[in-house]
Amino acid sequence: MKFRNLIDLDNLTNDELMEIILLSDKIRKNPSEYANVCKGKILATLFYEPSTRTQMSFQTAMLRLGGQIIGFDNPQNSSVAKGESLKDTLRVVGGYADIIAIRHPNEGAAMAGALYSPSPVINAGDGGHLHPTQTLTDVVTLYNEKGRLDNLCIGLCGDLLNGRTVHSLIKTMSHFKNNKFVLISTRELGLPNYIKDILKSTDTNCSFIEIPTLQEAIPMLDVLYMTRIQRERFSSEEEYQKQSGVYVLDTEKMKYAKKDLRVLHPLPRVDEITVDVDDDGRAVYFEQTVYGMYARMALIMTMLKNSNKSVPKTLKSTYKECCSNPKCITNKEKYLPKLFIEVGDMLVCKYCEHRKLIDY
Ligand code: CP
Repeated sequence: MKFRNLIDLDNLTNDELMEIILLSDKIRKNPSEYANVCKGKILATLFYEPSTRTQMSFQTAMLRLGGQIIGFDNPQNSSVAKGESLKDTLRVVGGYADIIAIRHPNEGAAMAGALYSPSPVINAGDGGHLHPTQTLTDVVTLYNEKGRLDNLCIGLCGDLLNGRTVHSLIKTMSHFKNNKFVLISTRELGLPNYIKDILKSTDTNCSFIEIPTLQEAIPMLDVLYMTRIQRERFSSEEEYQKQSGVYVLDTEKMKYAKKDLRVLHPLPRVDEITVDVDDDGRAVYFEQTVYGMYARMALIMTMLKNSNKSVPKTLKSTYKECCSNPKCITNKEKYLPKLFIEVGDMLVCKYCEHRKLIDY
């Protein structure tokens, strides 16, 4: 496999993705065979934002592979509190550890960190942008629960604007044939246009429709991916309250769903799925968390096999101005090179994928 860092699941070809899915299955079915494969290796988990599943499943994954772990789950307990830059933190920790998983509130932070880390970097969530290892978890779950990654009708419900797991999942599933995405959200929390543009230009015959209510959408779905309204991404509590509680999956709505529907949720759940749905065999969100641990074991094994330590070459800016997305990491860590690519008449930021018209 060619990839050094995992910033976006798009860094992998479909074949590479399938290899990791199949390896995670092998590990799940025979864990003792893999109990020492990472002996002597160290994983650093740098979590600048709260997490239960991602952080602990990464840590458990490394421990179950025989490796060890270091890191922080609160940057205020690290030298970040003294003003240390992302660059310096990654340059140093990448010297201690063999592989790093980073979660950060700013979009593009994992890519930025990877520019300076001597060890490979995994994006464990960068603001509202991407969450590729959640997507790996999701595709491993889908492969096991549905037996395929193509020809699926996938409903995505809730906060499609801020839900980074949704963005990553759609991008990845659009590489497989004939998937149909049913977008269920309020107008305010709709899918960003750049993801819709990706869906409009696939060569895999994927498509999307937008349906405003869960009642209307549920009968047609093979998969329902529920999401939490991301309170922490709203500018005020008042704005959040307007959106909260609009979509709730309950046992009544489940009556109208297919018998082989699978309900996924990246968790944590707030109030968007009532607890009685947990007893419905079609709800697989707790199984999903376990698939995620095996998926991360397979990912760590694969990345460590490919990697050797080296300090990356310094990159030069390709544009004079900063990204216009205020949540982009380049607006926080000002030393970062300004990296854009031209797509038609748009400039796309390589860190956060924010687009703006080229100013000729
Ligand atoms: N799904 C997920 O990312 O959960 P955590 O925020 O608990 O890691």
